[in-house]
Amino acid sequence: MGASYRGGVLTRAVRPTDGRSRASLEDGDVALRGVGRVFTTGRGRRAKPIEALAGLTLRVHPGEVVAVVGPSGCGKTTLLELVCGLQAPDAGAVAAAPAVLMPQRDLLLPWMDALDNAGLARRVSGASREQARAAARPLFAAFGLGGFEDQRPAALSGGMRQRVAFLRTLLAGKPVLCLDEPFGALDALTRAEMQAWLAGALATEPRTTLLVTHDVEEALLLADRVAVLSPRPGRVVAELEVPAPRPRRATDPALVALREQAMEALWAG
Ligand SMILES: Nc1ncnc2c1ncn2[C@@H]1O[C@H](COP(=O)(O)OP(=O)(O)OP(=O)(O)O)[C@@H](O)[C@H]1O
Ligand SMILES: [Mg+2]
Repeated sequence: MGASYRGGVLTRAVRPTDGRSRASLEDGDVALRGVGRVFTTGRGRRAKPIEALAGLTLRVHPGEVVAVVGPSGCGKTTLLELVCGLQAPDAGAVAAAPAVLMPQRDLLLPWMDALDNAGLARRVSGASREQARAAARPLFAAFGLGGFEDQRPAALSGGMRQRVAFLRTLLAGKPVLCLDEPFGALDALTRAEMQAWLAGALATEPRTTLLVTHDVEEALLLADRVAVLSPRPGRVVAELEVPAPRPRRATDPALVALREQAMEALWAG
């Protein structure tokens, strides 16, 4: 599949060649209906189908944050790539407003400074280096990156690298954000800080967001709704609304009860 990343930013949508396609929605909506995705490994007589997703139905409304949790290998990344148009479904239908992916690894370019990395999505869509830097610069302070504009990724902490990667994702200017395990590689303390920070960022600038995480607590802290996936082939086995007010604490009794429910759905799956 011709998935195309440049600096971790979607640059080219893969056009489905069949009728089971991907419609474009303008207002930040995402709708997956009965989606299936099958990969093939090996060639010739050794070819073996791997069903990543089967019968997956999920709706994300404009401005809503939906967390997707599920066991390793159940198709979470595949789901995000379908929403971003980096893959086409083999069954069912994907309809989504223009979406940008923050991939599982931060994929910052080591030879570029933080400002160039953050502005990369603008460069990809035709802006000059100066224009891209000018777009990114005013956001650095708000992202806790003030003073680090000229530093290369190697000189940044893990949390700062994730913030640069997230800033780059935001600057792509797409109505839908697909975040793939954005804090997966961070230590527990930095992760907690980044969760609080992302909650604040999404509160001040709401976006339709699909957040993939394997951490149920993280899902409940950040999302309006949590979709629990079954083991491969992934499909949605439970959807939990998270009505708790923000800012949230993991110790909120409502969240503790929801955590039980989500864990039960995961085990049952
Ligand atoms: N390009 C590919 N070719 C063959 N198999 C693939 C390909 N991409 C994904 N798969 C398979 O599809 C299944 C789902 O993969 P995916 O990466 O979407 O899972 P995931 O839920 O994101 O996993 P993780 O939690 O480890 O990130 C896995 O079994 C994986 O090996
Ligand atoms: Mg993944």
